[in-house]
Amino acid sequence: MAQNRSTAVMARRVEPNNSLDYFPTPPWATRALCEHLKKDHPLHRQVCWEPACGEGWMARPLAEYFAKVHATDVHDYSASWPGQDGVCDFLIDWGHAVFPEPVHWVITNPPFRLAEEFIRMALSVADVGVAVLVRTSFLEGQERFRRLFSQLPPAMVLQFVERVGIFRGRIDQYGSTATAYCWLIWLHADTGGTAFHWLPPCRSDLERQEDYPAQARCPEPMPLFEETAA
Ligand SMILES: C[S@@+](CC[C@H](N)C(=O)[O-])C[C@H]1O[C@@H](n2cnc3c(N)ncnc32)[C@H](O)[C@@H]1O
Repeated sequence: MAQNRSTAVMARRVEPNNSLDYFPTPPWATRALCEHLKKDHPLHRQVCWEPACGEGWMARPLAEYFAKVHATDVHDYSASWPGQDGVCDFLIDWGHAVFPEPVHWVITNPPFRLAEEFIRMALSVADVGVAVLVRTSFLEGQERFRRLFSQLPPAMVLQFVERVGIFRGRIDQYGSTATAYCWLIWLHADTGGTAFHWLPPCRSDLERQEDYPAQARCPEPMPLFEETAA
């Protein structure tokens, strides 16, 4: 039977409660955030914590912009990525992972079913701000509005106009997706409301072949559309 890939079905995906919810982020999507943030923030002098780092797909591009990046996760991924700094549950025992210097930013793609808890914890940890990559459908929902957005409105919503290919357990440069993503940013400095910005097309500028392991690349880029003779 053909897989139903409609947007409605894809957006309703539910992860089991014991799932690590491991969906690595293609590096260009993190560079898009940093390119935006660096206009107003001296990232090169600031410290960032990626508290759900997985195999470092977000932590590595963050390290291109920040003076220091701490990368931890509840699961030990060090066999596949030696850059992981520690194993800790961000929601329970993050105190064990307190770093000597202040953490200015917490930036992550949180496990979807724990995203709200991650945002609250991150705000209590970061001195300057918090950025989380979420499905754009995360903005919907009366309960979430009541619990989170009405009390803690983000300073910015950065909506990708390109699709960000994020897949369970694997990075895939050419995979296609029906799911839209945005960055939500909270700043401790009062910004007076939520600003909305589109992230204009940037993938071709921010993506590098060496971002991907050889097995995640196609020998030839796959055409999105068949060219037809005029
Ligand atoms: C959506 S993946 C994102 C991975 C990485 N941030 C990225 O963007 O490539 C979510 C990650 O959260 C981790 N995780 C799940 N629950 C956690 C918790 N309570 N504390 C810390 N990490 C957690 C999982 O192991 C997984 O690596």
